[in-house]
Amino acid sequence: MMNQSLNHSMIDDGEASVAQDYADNFGKPGFDDPSNMYIAQRYEGYTAENQETWQRLYDQQHEYLTDHASKVYLDGAEAIKLVREHIPHLEGEQSINSYLGQLTGWQSKPVPGYLPAKAFFACLSRREFPTTIVIRPLESINYLPEPDIFHDIYGHVPLHADPVFADFLQTYGKAALLTDDPEHTERLARLFWFTVEFGLIQEAGELKLYGSGLISSPGESRHALDSPEVERRPFDLEQVCSTSFEIDHYQPILYVLDSFEQLRDGMTTYAERILESVNA
Ligand SMILES: [Fe+2]
Repeated sequence: MMNQSLNHSMIDDGEASVAQDYADNFGKPGFDDPSNMYIAQRYEGYTAENQETWQRLYDQQHEYLTDHASKVYLDGAEAIKLVREHIPHLEGEQSINSYLGQLTGWQSKPVPGYLPAKAFFACLSRREFPTTIVIRPLESINYLPEPDIFHDIYGHVPLHADPVFADFLQTYGKAALLTDDPEHTERLARLFWFTVEFGLIQEAGELKLYGSGLISSPGESRHALDSPEVERRPFDLEQVCSTSFEIDHYQPILYVLDSFEQLRDGMTTYAERILESVNA
């Protein structure tokens, strides 16, 4: 799903279209190797305006998150050396991936665009996170119609530096890859939504943010913590998987973890259940 509001000239070439074609066919015979969906970051493609967009987004969130994001997120952002000055490098020495690799073995892999669900799960099952490399335009800095590198790297990747979250996300990918049952697939999509994208966590008696959709959104991060209109429920995996969601407005229901161990252990149990149903 291409959107004209992102700068797609960076990914408008032969390498990218071959990779996207592979992704679109993923799961068909001969299309089972996620590495064929990855492209280079093409760092030289970022303009001065792109870099400024990164800096402004960073400035909008950094101070606020210091007080309001999960310590696990903040520690991860420091460990992968996320900085204000420039869009992160994914490849090479002192890149995000060089630090991440040493910590948990996760890697952020540039992709040319939207991946079908199975292709996305296959990446996660290998500890590889499909990453959008383009960034939103400066003139629509607070409007994000689809993921960009700020959402994917600033929002998601710091948690991949945490061993417990790292294991959870890989188990999620493996479980989702195992099943073709539409009911399981829908339940797993809800779990992803209410945790990875919009999760809250209780830390030392305080409510903190960790979901990437909150972390990367100046508007919704504040709304999630402060608005009386948000119903904040204690995390319960069964209940989460039964809660439907809508994508086009601020979330009226959020789920609050006690710890990332709770999420990892719940996922492991759920994965075992899927495995049993597949083998039954
Ligand atoms: Fe996301």
